[in-house]
Amino acid sequence: MRVGFYQFAPVFGEVNNNFDSVIAAVSSMECDLLVLPELAMSGYQFISQEEVASLAELVPEGPTTRRLMDVAKRRDMFVVAGIAEQFQGRFYNSAVLVGPSGFIGLYRKTHLFDEETLFFSPGDTGLQVWDIGPAKVGIMICFDWFYPEAARTLALKGAEILCHPSNLILPHCPDAMVTRCLENRVFSVTANRIGQEERGGKPALTFIGKSEVVSPGGKILHRAPPDKEELTVVDIDVTEARDKWLNPYNDLFRDRQPHLYAS
Ligand code: ACM
Repeated sequence: MRVGFYQFAPVFGEVNNNFDSVIAAVSSMECDLLVLPELAMSGYQFISQEEVASLAELVPEGPTTRRLMDVAKRRDMFVVAGIAEQFQGRFYNSAVLVGPSGFIGLYRKTHLFDEETLFFSPGDTGLQVWDIGPAKVGIMICFDWFYPEAARTLALKGAEILCHPSNLILPHCPDAMVTRCLENRVFSVTANRIGQEERGGKPALTFIGKSEVVSPGGKILHRAPPDKEELTVVDIDVTEARDKWLNPYNDLFRDRQPHLYAS
């Protein structure tokens, strides 16, 4: 199975232009599952509720999800993309999963980071896994990585690939995803963005790039540079994520001791 990410620098508020960049980048790519960054078309650093309201879209009726469905159909692939979503007067930092046959699912970010809490409601969808045929995929968004429960929940629900749209600012995540994959024996595709945003007199945010694909053995199959646009596709054998055997005496999930853990 070919999994990939597109690391780029969305321009704040330029939804159509950002989408055009994605279309241009993926036009000659062969891929089964493509992951795009968090808030991939809207940009990240919101400065008012009015701005969120003007950029957040309905899912799946809104233009970004419809365009994503169109790309997925034309290119015969699955796509996970971060999106600013509006639903019943609330705003969510969400991600959608679409495929050749249309809309598949929606995830609303559980663990909001920093000023995201001013503009978005915490997600209420819970962490979910979808069987898309070639693999079972789960979605977590950016700062969800900081809570090992997110990746663990997805793995316990059967995810073989963690799709991880991101707008990373802190430096730790790319290395931490190695542990998330190792401790759950799953693949991950982290699609981060690059560039800077400095809006409304707020401190500049520099996004760290380093999008990556990591294997269930904790091997970084590919890591992008911190500051360059990059489209990457990696061939993976999903069956590696199905076997939770560690050694003759340890099976990852069988040996958990949940009755001793805090909730
Ligand atoms: C983040 O969750 N965007 C850091």
